[in-house]
Amino acid sequence: MSFAFGIGIGSQNQKSEWLEVFYQQPVLMPDDELIEVARNTLGYHSGNQAIEASADQLKAFAEALGSTSQTQQAALARKAAESRKPVAVTILETDDSATSTPEVYLKLHLLSHRLVKPHGVKLDGIFGLLPNLAWTNEGAIDLGELPERQLQARLEGRILEVKSVDKFPQMTDYVVPRGVRIADTARVRLGAYVGEGTTVMHEGFINFNAGTEGTSMIEGRVSAGVMIGKGSDLGGSSSTMGTLSGGGNIVISVGENCLLGANAGIGIPLGDRCTVEAGLYITSGTKVALLDDQNNLVEVVKARDLASKTDLLFRRNSQTGAVECKTNKTAVELNEQLHANN
Ligand SMILES: CC(C)(COP(=O)(O)OP(=O)(O)OC[C@H]1O[C@@H](n2cnc3c(N)ncnc32)[C@H](O)[C@@H]1OP(=O)(O)O)[C@@H](O)C(=O)NCCC(=O)NCCS
Repeated sequence: MSFAFGIGIGSQNQKSEWLEVFYQQPVLMPDDELIEVARNTLGYHSGNQAIEASADQLKAFAEALGSTSQTQQAALARKAAESRKPVAVTILETDDSATSTPEVYLKLHLLSHRLVKPHGVKLDGIFGLLPNLAWTNEGAIDLGELPERQLQARLEGRILEVKSVDKFPQMTDYVVPRGVRIADTARVRLGAYVGEGTTVMHEGFINFNAGTEGTSMIEGRVSAGVMIGKGSDLGGSSSTMGTLSGGGNIVISVGENCLLGANAGIGIPLGDRCTVEAGLYITSGTKVALLDDQNNLVEVVKARDLASKTDLLFRRNSQTGAVECKTNKTAVELNEQLHANN
């Protein structure tokens, strides 16, 4: 059985290099019959391959698929045969490191379509395969070709709006997963896993290979690699430390029913039902005073020793400045109304 499959409509630059690919219906663990038809009609042999398919190949592919149970992919292939843009049929036999832009895009789609969870797909080396592009109101444009396109637009009385210059596009231009609200769509990158019931407010951000399991209010930043458990909220401008640059190698996550206060931050994974006081940043080496119910000091530990432990309340003592940790007695009650219309 193969790992993934996708029929994608893409963009290329003037040198016919892939810029980006949109897969409307990516498939995880595709049926063998789909791959077999790709072998017979598209010249696929084995391994991981992104095949740039001609209209004739796509018609033959669609026709052969018509006599299988793959009706949705057959219909998509039929439409793709009429595309004015280049079409990539990407087959990943295994989840090996990607070797082409269409392969990376298929993996990012698997995440945003919730077919795989963050850390569930191999993404090493993807930065080298994702071109830095101008994301415009006329689609992705190679940066070398941008000045000419801007001039052309002006000559025709239009303005080419460059919405971002980045290796990753915004997720919602590729997929809007069911049951989410995203106030500012530019703040969620393709490759984010946004669980059903998640609200991302304007200040919230979700990077690729990161996301939320389910109902969550995200007003802070979910860095690459970070996963937020069901019922947990990230307060305004709060921060979760990523592992991409100098963040160490502890993978940060947040358990269920946690609250990261406004402007708070974590460099350790939190277990379930934890609260971090607004404004407090806990790094893994932060010395933390453990207090008992009467606020007496029990011992001083490093925050990393409390990683993934449940029912903790972290605060910075406003009189002494010491970071303290107590049992979290106040259950985090999510604002039901706030989440009701997700
Ligand atoms: C840390 C936090 C959870 C504590 O809230 P709480 O559990 O309701 O605690 P209270 O404010 O009722 O305080 C309980 C006691 O601890 C004391 N206390 C609270 N924070 C303290 C601090 N940082 N240092 C010293 N004492 C503190 C209070 O004065 C109070 O003392 P008392 O028993 O003598 O009256 C809260 O301050 C907080 O930061 N919440 C985050 C909210 C947020 O940012 N939401 C996201 C919005 S976008």
